Amino acid sequence: MSLQNYQVNFVKNLEKMRVLGIETSCDETGLAIYDSQTGLLGHALHSQIDVHLEYGGVVPELASRDHVRKVLPLLRGLLQESGVAFGSIDGIAYTAGPGLAGALLVGAAVGRSLAWSLGIPSVAVHHMEGHLLAPMLEPVPPEFPFIALLVSGGHTQLVKVISVGQYQLLGESLDDAAGEAFDKTAKLLGLPYPGGPELARLAESGNTARYRFPRPMTDRPGLDFSFSGLKTFALNTLQSAREEEGWPIPRQTQADIARAFEDAVVDTLLIKCRRAVRQTHIKTLIMAGGVSANQHLREKVVQMMQKEGGSAYYPRPEFCTDNGAMIAYAGCQRLLAGEAEPLMFSVKPRWAMESLGELPVGS
Ligand code: KG4
Ligand code: ZN
Repeated sequence: MSLQNYQVNFVKNLEKMRVLGIETSCDETGLAIYDSQTGLLGHALHSQIDVHLEYGGVVPELASRDHVRKVLPLLRGLLQESGVAFGSIDGIAYTAGPGLAGALLVGAAVGRSLAWSLGIPSVAVHHMEGHLLAPMLEPVPPEFPFIALLVSGGHTQLVKVISVGQYQLLGESLDDAAGEAFDKTAKLLGLPYPGGPELARLAESGNTARYRFPRPMTDRPGLDFSFSGLKTFALNTLQSAREEEGWPIPRQTQADIARAFEDAVVDTLLIKCRRAVRQTHIKTLIMAGGVSANQHLREKVVQMMQKEGGSAYYPRPEFCTDNGAMIAYAGCQRLLAGEAEPLMFSVKPRWAMESLGELPVGS
């Protein structure tokens, strides 16, 4: 097929789109098929926990190699399980950034090649836009405009979302992301990778009254965050406990520290979310990204939004962390608007979401 043909074939049916989403930005291979008329037709996820466990964190080269190994078998399985014919797919969306360069290149290469072989368009999706739109996959989706709290391993952002592609950054972390702080503190506590969910599990049995961690930057105006100090605070608390109680410190003390850390992160996020809602007078708040799977955060944000006379939305837990469904959905919106790119591709390990374009009017 010539390049010209490839371009011509793009002008298909922009009323309806069935899109394959490919997510390979970090340590999860995620695939999904989203249909603009009938919704999510299926999704599949392969987690690389076993690959990285012994290293205590993600090893980029091993991540890339594992994506290479898993992406096509996972696709075959997804097509079979969902009963979707490969030829019925109208477009392909893949995560092009931000993320690990090698890992991103796997999804980009597979996405573009499949699109070329099927003669259909493909589109590069911003990973955080995927997270941000993930609540749209739920039976009761939020309506625009809304405030988005994006909390993942690499980002902590408050974004004013006017429509798909119209994003205004209200605040972000000046150092560690919330998920990164969870992971680093979990490591200090001797918990295995992936630290965030492990720490949250340990915190369940923690005593909330024993330690109190600071709520960073909440006494200053503005909507930025800083979480690296909390990790240092956890280290100092751990060292004091070690002097008093010996090593290894008792499990209950570990749990108490985990709880104090989690409460501090949750409270800090909550305070800034409330501030963003009051400042913008937008009463709809969504949470997305891996940390939004945190049960305490979800409960507290829902309560806070009720008090503010508004409502909170979040994806089901499996769509909080990395997944193909959010990429298929985000890509579908862009493809429906007529967006598609030439065969050449690049990935963007660093990519500001505010640089994304507004979708054409009438799309
Ligand atoms: O969105 P995500 O899957 O990947 C990135 O885009 O980074 O987020 C992963 C982050 C990790 O830092 C992980 O520890 C954190 O989300 N995480 C959690 C929980 N589940 C995942 N943090 C706190 N509580 C959880 N239940
Ligand atoms: Zn993510």
